[in-house]
Amino acid sequence: MTAEVTLRVATPADGRAVGALLRASYPVLMRAGYDEAVLKGALPLMTRANPTLLSSGTYYVAETGSGLMVGCGGWTRERPGTGEVLPQLGHIRHFATHPDWIGRGIGRAIHDRCEEAARSAGVTRFECYASRNAAGFYAALGFSALREIAVPMGPDVAFPSVLMARTI
Ligand SMILES: CC(C)(COP(=O)(O)OP(=O)(O)OC[C@H]1O[C@@H](n2cnc3c(N)ncnc32)[C@H](O)[C@@H]1OP(=O)(O)O)[C@@H](O)C(=O)NCCC(=O)NCCS
Repeated sequence: MTAEVTLRVATPADGRAVGALLRASYPVLMRAGYDEAVLKGALPLMTRANPTLLSSGTYYVAETGSGLMVGCGGWTRERPGTGEVLPQLGHIRHFATHPDWIGRGIGRAIHDRCEEAARSAGVTRFECYASRNAAGFYAALGFSALREIAVPMGPDVAFPSVLMARTI
């Protein structure tokens, strides 16, 4: 990762900055995988910072030396949406890099931090509900695409995604 950026565990106090980062990243970078109609319905729901993740201890933010938040992402034992927990399985959650900072290893560094922490906690496999535009990123990290899925975002919104997985 680029030397001027460091990672730390997120806290609930990061909610405003994480929300701003999601709103800077998703509408721009997800255009590569979705048409405007799909994004219009899903983005307001997807770009809210998740309080449960922020207090999980397994969600991370990347910051520059001047304190600018340029990346976020984490993992949980709970399956997104259902909360189901299966032994040795972890779930990749809410990754974003600021569009001005993509391609500098920030997403990979956050993933590597997730992998290290998850392994220490006995997790042996990661699953991810990858947005279409991010499937190439997860493939570069060693994930395999299993199938297309529609991820429920709210009562009337399902977001077309790719179920991906890797052994860690
Ligand atoms: C996906 C995302 C987090 C990647 O962040 P990033 O900081 O640019 O990723 P990195 O620079 O660490 O890239 C790591 C590797 O993935 C590859 N990669 C990154 N984005 C890619 C893409 N869209 N397609 C193909 N490969 C990609 C890089 O080339 C790099 O490969 P290498 O290490 O073998 O050279 C970022 O593009 C993003 O925020 N997208 C919008 C939000 C989103 O879709 N999040 C995922 C929700 S499931």
